[in-house]
Amino acid sequence: MSINLSGRTIAITGASSGIGRATAIACANAGMNVIVAARREDELNRVVEDIRAAGGRAAYVVMDVSNPHDNARLIEAALDHFGSIYSVFANAGYGLERAVLSYTQAELDDIFRVNFWASLELSRLAAERFLKQEPVNGGKRGHILVCSSCVSKIGLPNYAAYSASKSLQDHFARAMRIELADKSVAVSSVHPIGTKTEFFDTAKRLSGGKRISIQTPERFKQPAETVADAIVRCLRKPKGEVWTSFPMRAMLALATLAPSFADWMLLRRQRQLNNPQA
Ligand SMILES: NC(=O)c1ccc[n+]([C@@H]2O[C@H](COP(=O)([O-])OP(=O)(O)OC[C@H]3O[C@@H](n4cnc5c(N)ncnc54)[C@H](OP(=O)(O)O)[C@@H]3O)[C@@H](O)[C@H]2O)c1
Repeated sequence: MSINLSGRTIAITGASSGIGRATAIACANAGMNVIVAARREDELNRVVEDIRAAGGRAAYVVMDVSNPHDNARLIEAALDHFGSIYSVFANAGYGLERAVLSYTQAELDDIFRVNFWASLELSRLAAERFLKQEPVNGGKRGHILVCSSCVSKIGLPNYAAYSASKSLQDHFARAMRIELADKSVAVSSVHPIGTKTEFFDTAKRLSGGKRISIQTPERFKQPAETVADAIVRCLRKPKGEVWTSFPMRAMLALATLAPSFADWMLLRRQRQLNNPQA
């Protein structure tokens, strides 16, 4: 049975650009009320205006996911604006290129705070809220989505903190999914492959402008809308993991089966990056 999303409310962090923005628009097109959140108010305002211009319902909250109380404020805002909340998408996140020995403690603290701790906080707050409400039309009480990544399944050289933060999201979502399965709360992790968003520009800026990590070649990157459409399908028919690339999923399954082979492939690719002339 497909869940009718019309009139249900979703709160989305990191919705001022990229995957969050595209998901907000796709959810609004599916009839959902949307609360978008991020730090840049002008971009949030633009998303809300675009949704309203297309006949949808949206509002925004300016927040930094790493601030204590901001995730709670987001849920309150959804209730204030639309009277109910059905879903959250913990999507805010960023990447940082560093060798493990080069991170400062402050950099490690920040990336785990934004990518992992904040998404866990929002997931737990949402779960507490959803458990207090009744399932709608015999369906779910609520649906929690976290934006992990395909790299959650491997330790990416020069991107270890990022891939580890995404792996933590994946593990917690998996455990929560089973813990809440019999309580009618759905929990899904989203595992995008390289996606055309501001993500890589931000990572480059934060990393000092030099690319040192293995990344998806530009020609293989997907549009953010591909991820957004897969998320709407998952909201309609809840499932555990959202993937948009079967070949990548198969490759990562192989990496789990044969970790030494996967490490060898990564080492080969990293050497090519380190010595492009060789
Ligand atoms: N692009 C990819 O290839 C890719 C692949 C796999 C997974 N992902 C994941 O997808 C998610 C979205 O990334 P994206 O690709 O759409 O990149 P993006 O365009 O850079 O979007 C990142 C969003 O996160 C927000 N954000 C960052 N730090 C924040 C903070 N402290 N508080 C509140 N909002 C914050 C940014 O908004 P403000 O700057 O306005 O705050 C922005 O809206 C991330 O979790 C990323 O790890 C991306």
